[in-house]
Amino acid sequence: MPNSLSIVILAAGKGSRMKSPKAKVLHEICGREMLYYSIKAARALSDDVIVVVAHQKDAVIASMERYFDGLTFVIQDTENFPGTGGAMMEVKPKHDNVLVLNGDMPLITQHSVREFMKSDSDIVMSVIELEDSSGYGRVVIENGHVVRIVEEKDATDAQKEILTVNAGVYAFKRSVLEAYLPKLSNANAQSEYYLTDVIALARQDNVEISPLIVEEVEFKGVNSKFDLSIAETIMMDRIRRTWMDAGVIMQLPQTIYIEEGVRFEGESIIENGVRLCGDTLIANSHIKAHSVIEESTVRDSDVGPLAHLRPLSVLKNTHIGNFVEVKKSTLNGVKAGHLSYLGDATIDEGTNIGAGTITCNYDGVKKYQTIIGKNVFVGSDTQLVAPVEISDNVMIAAGTTVTSGKYESDMLILSRTPIRRVAGFFTKFFGKGA
Ligand code: UD1
Ligand code: CA
Repeated sequence: MPNSLSIVILAAGKGSRMKSPKAKVLHEICGREMLYYSIKAARALSDDVIVVVAHQKDAVIASMERYFDGLTFVIQDTENFPGTGGAMMEVKPKHDNVLVLNGDMPLITQHSVREFMKSDSDIVMSVIELEDSSGYGRVVIENGHVVRIVEEKDATDAQKEILTVNAGVYAFKRSVLEAYLPKLSNANAQSEYYLTDVIALARQDNVEISPLIVEEVEFKGVNSKFDLSIAETIMMDRIRRTWMDAGVIMQLPQTIYIEEGVRFEGESIIENGVRLCGDTLIANSHIKAHSVIEESTVRDSDVGPLAHLRPLSVLKNTHIGNFVEVKKSTLNGVKAGHLSYLGDATIDEGTNIGAGTITCNYDGVKKYQTIIGKNVFVGSDTQLVAPVEISDNVMIAAGTTVTSGKYESDMLILSRTPIRRVAGFFTKFFGKGA
């Protein structure tokens, strides 16, 4: 089947209702652009995926090429042929069967798309039955036949009452598109060429049109930021469900944010309020409440509560406690229990990082590395002024500023201002009544 179907994804629109300088299809859901999801579903079913672009086309093309290769991009002439029908005019599908998807339908799945290929009608069009049909094109049905789709802006008050709407996915025989796209007119409220008018033109010639009833949870169109939030909620539910089915334990899953790029291995526990972003892997680990992990790998470790792993952190057999921030660091068999910043560091087995330890990795111009060997005891409130390298089996006394350089194995590093004890000072300073 994949080789008998071309899929066209319409992604050239501006998306004015998003009220954003960014093209609509580039708005993100669970960490990936909306358009990514429809291309992903299309790719699973077809070797001929064509994406129609125009508005911010360079940005749209560049962002999709980060995920997919071999896509065909067609540029719509939005000056002369605006609208979803205009978008189809330059498209040259390879196959006889052409599935058209709107690019603002991120909830679509391969399974839902497959249903369209089961019928052999000249046109299969998706319809949804809604309680509130606002925003969608209304489907006019007479004597059991679909006769036309009326866009909201062109609809009469009576037509606006129609609760059967066009979901925006269609399977056409290529010959139908070839016959009717040239006949579209822009005599409507938006002066656009509507793909939906193909339905009325085909109906007049008694071309067979089969409606396929679909669910909004998979076919919701995203036009506004409110729609975006609803679509993200649905997508997030799917992501969490998938990983729970794969063995991940989630406490209060509704409070956990997990992006599309996140992967899990084995059995992990994710507590409430955790945010996992980007290209992150969590394997056999416990992520405690309200921790944020971005683009990092965590194996056989526990993190949090309230910890922050910033991009490119790699943890193995490690304990990270509350208020610890780690960035671009590799920690293997390390304990950092409280209130620390570990950036651009490599820290080895058996090392304990005391509370309040800071890697001073930045001199205002460049970033420098901190390398700490095995079984190092880093006392509380230590500052490590990078570049600094500490060998195995070293003790750093609490409060030490470890200046840049190399420190050999087996030593004590200590910098401490000698304490002064000034007897009677308090009373002298504040007076007797204090
Ligand atoms: C469209 C349908 C409507 C349907 C709804 C379902 C038309 C005329 N209307 O309306 O019947 O109920 O989808 O969600 O088709 N696009 C282009 N080029 C353009 C204009 C739009 O490629 O010139 C793309 C957009 O990027 C978007 C998709 O087509 O991904 C749909 O456009 P949009 O403006 O959102 O159409 P709706 O008004 O939602
Ligand atoms: Ca839409």
